[in-house]
Amino acid sequence: MSRPMHVALICLLCSAVLLRRSSSELCHPEDKTVLLGIKDSLNNPYALASWTPDTDCCDWYCVECDPMSNRIVTLSINAVSLPGQIPPLIGHLPYLSSIRLHKLTNLTGPIPPSIIRLMNLQFLTLSWINLTGNIPDFLGQLTRLIFLDLSYNNLSGHIPSSLSNPPNLRSLRLDRNRLTGEIPESIGNIQGKSVYIYLSHNQLSGKIPQSFARMDLEYVDLSRNNLEGGVSMLFGGNTSIQVVDISRNRFEFNFSEVVPPTGLIHLDVSHNKVYGGIPKGLTEVAFLQNFNVSYNRLCGEIPVGGSLQGFDEYCYFHNRCLCGAPLAACII
Ligand SMILES: *[C@@H]1O[C@H](CO)[C@@H](O)[C@H](O)[C@H]1NC(C)=O
Ligand SMILES: *[C@@H]1O[C@H](CO)[C@@H](O)[C@H](O)[C@H]1NC(C)=O
Ligand SMILES: *[C@@H]1O[C@H](CO)[C@@H](O)[C@H](O)[C@H]1NC(C)=O
Ligand SMILES: *[C@@H]1O[C@H](CO)[C@@H](O)[C@H](O)[C@H]1NC(C)=O
Ligand SMILES: *[C@@H]1O[C@H](CO)[C@@H](O)[C@H](O)[C@H]1NC(C)=O
Ligand SMILES: *[C@@H]1O[C@H](CO)[C@@H](O)[C@H](O)[C@H]1NC(C)=O
Repeated sequence: MSRPMHVALICLLCSAVLLRRSSSELCHPEDKTVLLGIKDSLNNPYALASWTPDTDCCDWYCVECDPMSNRIVTLSINAVSLPGQIPPLIGHLPYLSSIRLHKLTNLTGPIPPSIIRLMNLQFLTLSWINLTGNIPDFLGQLTRLIFLDLSYNNLSGHIPSSLSNPPNLRSLRLDRNRLTGEIPESIGNIQGKSVYIYLSHNQLSGKIPQSFARMDLEYVDLSRNNLEGGVSMLFGGNTSIQVVDISRNRFEFNFSEVVPPTGLIHLDVSHNKVYGGIPKGLTEVAFLQNFNVSYNRLCGEIPVGGSLQGFDEYCYFHNRCLCGAPLAACII
């Protein structure tokens, strides 16, 4: 082969490869532009090194394209250092159904209002990232939302009553923030099977709304707040509730009057002002694995049966006058 022909052939091959590459790129150009803008506004962090203009964005780390439309549907960045704020450009990936930004050190600032544009969002996790400001009301307009997790941030202000609006919402995690005020009555509008509510480690006050009785709760953690009153709305007749943690609040109710749901696995009422005795019904809860009533005002004999004698004395201690195993025998 002559030299010029050789060169020509190589060039032909090169351009064929280049052509193939660009025509087989799946990534939507608009999504690519937005993602490159996001990378830029985060100062080109190492975690996003695979996001380069000459490659297909459907192959990049931390994102996923829908197999049919090839639009970006998932953005998930986990456990890296990303100095800055959540880029508002995130709202320009209109097909996103799942965002997970988790444990990103040095990321701060508010939840960007542009998120309201993401009407396909089903899963939104912004956790462990020192977010500040209020929980925006507009999150309630994301009508497809199933799962909302804003835990382990520095969010303040009230819980917006709009959060219960998305009809398919099943899991609400707002724990470990600095939220104040009452739990909105509207939270009880969260319907559907097996609802998870985590509001622990905040500064919430007032009573649990009566509307909680309408929910099919499976998991509720209200621990470490300033909540008061009773908890009967958690223990309605036909509930499938399994985990209840109301520890370290100011709840004040007669424990004898609680009818424990038989599916309970975890019940922590420690550090409150609960009075009365331990309900006999707890001996019929077959799979109770964690139970703690310490630091309350309970009195009387601990009923014998079920798992109740399997918990150590520290699960019962510091009450007014509880007695019987595992504590000392009652004096008759
Ligand atoms: C976080 O920011 C602080 C102060 O700006 C800086 O000293 C530190 O190195 C940053 N940490 C990481 C992991 O980037
Ligand atoms: C949040 O900020 C505090 C104090 O600045 C820092 O110690 C902590 O590591 C930060 N957490 C995250 C997840 O960035
Ligand atoms: C949380 O926010 C408050 C004020 O908004 C600030 O003083 C505090 O340092 C923040 N804490 C963290 C861990 O970022
Ligand atoms: C109680 O739950 C069972 C099973 O989920 C259901 O079949 C029944 O209709 C419920 N009863 C009431 C009174 O809600
Ligand atoms: C708690 O309720 C039980 C059962 O209704 C009742 O017998 C008891 O007197 C009540 N205890 C207190 C301290 O009110
Ligand atoms: C029960 O709660 C008390 C008080 O917070 C704590 O000291 C004890 O370790 C807890 N017991 C269990 C088994 O969690």
